[in-house]
Amino acid sequence: MPDVYATISQADAAVVEQLAGILELRAADPQQQEMRTAYLSDVDFPPSARVAEIGCGTGPVARTLAALPGVGEVVGVDPSPLFVEKARELARDLPNLTFVLGDGREVPLEDDSFDVVVFHTTLCHIPSPDEALAEARRLLRPGGTLAVFDGDYVTVSVAHSPNDPLQACADACAENLIHDPWLARKLPVLLRDAGFGDIRLRGHSYVEAPSSGGYLLAVIDRGADALHSAGRISGDMAAALKSEARRRSDEGEFYGHINYLSAVARRS
Ligand SMILES: C[S@@+](CC[C@H](N)C(=O)[O-])C[C@H]1O[C@@H](n2cnc3c(N)ncnc32)[C@H](O)[C@@H]1O
Repeated sequence: MPDVYATISQADAAVVEQLAGILELRAADPQQQEMRTAYLSDVDFPPSARVAEIGCGTGPVARTLAALPGVGEVVGVDPSPLFVEKARELARDLPNLTFVLGDGREVPLEDDSFDVVVFHTTLCHIPSPDEALAEARRLLRPGGTLAVFDGDYVTVSVAHSPNDPLQACADACAENLIHDPWLARKLPVLLRDAGFGDIRLRGHSYVEAPSSGGYLLAVIDRGADALHSAGRISGDMAAALKSEARRRSDEGEFYGHINYLSAVARRS
């Protein structure tokens, strides 16, 4: 099953609607907010900074950026018309935030026109991330800052014991629904090859306990569906695995962990 985000403009409206809910749920999680605050603190925003978020989805990160002191204007870019429509609706009270429809590998914005470009959990979904990084470099003014935050998705762990069947769902989600789950480990070389220097890397640890909000429950759901679609488990088994994840959560037993990586670099 291919990464739905990598071909998002062809996805069913119902699927995009479901993903929109997951993106907003994840962004509202206090630990996700803390990680955003941490890596954005590594970015030097010049006064009235002009910022682009590539692959903005429904815009929660773009809204955070638009509210930062010192940021003048934010432009969110995404190839999904449905995400862009939702993003505009959710940001209707933020006059310094606009959205444009576009692919990160061919962004319809001018050269040398941004101080900061952000990819937040987006680069791993883009086939040919090198092309997206070359576009980011083109958009940035000389000396501008690139910030990339992505999951190190091969670290997703939800097992309580060896051979825990929920881990198969988490692994299937990473393997089937993320174009390159290994991207975080390639990031320093990708950035260097794309013409970025002064690279600051930071690891972030996300732990989901039952009260955290359910992002990893959604990962298990999507992994169970991927296993079912691939004919590897029955629909009944997929439903049983989802329900076991809910039971653990309801009974205070759920545990999930994922590492994220941020890289903040300067256009050299
Ligand atoms: C996991 S979502 C992240 C959305 C948002 N940055 C956030 O963190 O809430 C990945 C996003 O990448 C976008 N995307 C997929 N392919 C893309 C491409 N070629 N160029 C730019 N964005 C892309 C998807 O439409 C989706 O909004």
